[in-house]
Amino acid sequence: MTKSRSLRIAASVAIAATLAACSSTATTAPTTAPTTAAAATPVVTAAPAAKTYKDMVVGFIQTGSESGWRAANTSSFKETATADGIKLNFYDSQNKIENQITAFNTFIQDPTVNVIVLAAVGTTGYDDVLKAAKAAGKVVVIEDRRIDADASLYYTYIGSDFDKEGNNGAKAMCDLMKGSSGFNVVEIGGDQQASAAIDRAKGFREGIPTCANGTITILDSQNAAGWTPDTGKSIMEADLKKYAGKINGVYAHNDELAIAAIQAITAAGLKAGSGPTDIKVVGFDATADGFKYLISGEMGADIECNPLLAPQVYKAALDALNGVTGQATWTPSEEGQFFAAQGADALKAILATRKY
Ligand code: AHR
Repeated sequence: MTKSRSLRIAASVAIAATLAACSSTATTAPTTAPTTAAAATPVVTAAPAAKTYKDMVVGFIQTGSESGWRAANTSSFKETATADGIKLNFYDSQNKIENQITAFNTFIQDPTVNVIVLAAVGTTGYDDVLKAAKAAGKVVVIEDRRIDADASLYYTYIGSDFDKEGNNGAKAMCDLMKGSSGFNVVEIGGDQQASAAIDRAKGFREGIPTCANGTITILDSQNAAGWTPDTGKSIMEADLKKYAGKINGVYAHNDELAIAAIQAITAAGLKAGSGPTDIKVVGFDATADGFKYLISGEMGADIECNPLLAPQVYKAALDALNGVTGQATWTPSEEGQFFAAQGADALKAILATRKY
């Protein structure tokens, strides 16, 4: 065997030995290049495009059209929907809870609707439809008024702190009664089913005991069903007869009821105002009509309730459609207070800047 032949054999034995050394798991000398398990080509599933306002189809269940405030609230939803390209199905519940339940079921069964917004007439009776809406994958946002349902049954609530409004109403009445000939008040409440009325009454009663100007006494308290101004007027007319000469203040749950009371007071030959013997009137909403009576001095204080909630509500609904979690259960509305004592000129200047 020649020298060169033995050299070639030695070399190939050496190569085989090296390969064996490289891969501890190699059993047989690989004949082809080693194939690592073909790396799985990652399946990149494109994140679903974020939803926009143009994807939103809203079923809006409004209480009704009981006040200037309600009209401003409805306009906020209609105008903002038009501006943002949101499809809005508006429903006027005529201030009946049963109508709201019917509308809820209609929107739940409507495959095009992906968001339901509720302004609640009452505080209870919504659990079943809320559960059904959730099961149907509808986003539900509560606006304006709180309801007594578990927060897990809706995405979020955006609306007023009516209890705090009531506290502010008590403080305003107390301030107005400084130097007053008496501290007897009658209350003209809103619809007794509504959280706005329930909490404004509660907040007032929590606040009046702290009045340093005198002991405010609630002589009488009645609710105007449906927030109807004519009912408010009849209540005031009856109170003026029943408590003749004893009424020093009126606590009315919205501007229409306060204005109805002022009209009854004036018709009875008495004066609504801030003088020692005048009847002091506190109202709620601070609509343009309410401002007129602040400017005339007949209404002493008007506690604002903000109706322009649509932008916040639609934003929250869009977040929900895009799977945003960790949202606040409740976002209280930003609100102020206005007083006749600010003076007519200042109030006129403020009124000129307001949308409602
Ligand atoms: O929920 C808000 C209340 O509803 C307003 O104060 C009143 O005017 C309306 O009816």
